[in-house]
Amino acid sequence: MNKKGFIFDLDGVIVDTAKYHFLAWQRLAKSLDIDFTEEENEQLKGVSREKSLEKILTWGNKTISETQFNELMVKKNDEYLSYIAEMDSDEVLPDVPRVLNTLIKKQQPVSLGSASKNARTILERVGLKKHFMAIVDGNDVSKAKPDPEVFLIAAEQLNVKPENCIVFEDSVAGVKAANSAKMISIGIGRKDVLGHAKYVFNDFTEISDDFLNKLINN
Ligand code: BG6
Ligand code: MG
Repeated sequence: MNKKGFIFDLDGVIVDTAKYHFLAWQRLAKSLDIDFTEEENEQLKGVSREKSLEKILTWGNKTISETQFNELMVKKNDEYLSYIAEMDSDEVLPDVPRVLNTLIKKQQPVSLGSASKNARTILERVGLKKHFMAIVDGNDVSKAKPDPEVFLIAAEQLNVKPENCIVFEDSVAGVKAANSAKMISIGIGRKDVLGHAKYVFNDFTEISDDFLNKLINN
């Protein structure tokens, strides 16, 4: 049987956590007198915690000390964790379990490839951790997306060559990372945003078992 490596981003692909990141960043920005819009939040998708704070400070034209920077990172994450603590399997995005189960039934290696340092906690909360043969997250990488490092490590852990890997991503940075890793990129979201992905779907309900078979057998 053909084996491909299937790599899933987490935030925005498996669960809609962007809303929680937004709430936590927004409160933090407000405490610094910075206006932070949902549009700006879009630009933080796939971006690491550290880089996100750097961007918010740049948008607000603020300079702070390293100590304050580190304190703010902790503050943001503490609030984010309080939202995650309330998550359960109802928050898994539509048809994600179907796609995962189909791939597993077809004995396809499946990994997570996320920028989040909270990835394991979230997967546990929503009951999907057991589906992943490998989990590569923000704790395992030194270079953030759009660098391909996270996906290359995932491919290695699955023991599948990068060119035989397929990545599901909702962020521009993530699609770029998958493309630089020479993997097949599948954008989950809007075509006008993710146009550089090889395929784009609004969500997993549009991804048929037939399409998955084609990916496996190509
Ligand atoms: C990405 C999210 O998956 O993870 C970003 O799209 C987030 O919004 C990044 O900043 C880091 O996540 P965390 O959980 O480590 O703060
Ligand atoms: Mg994402």
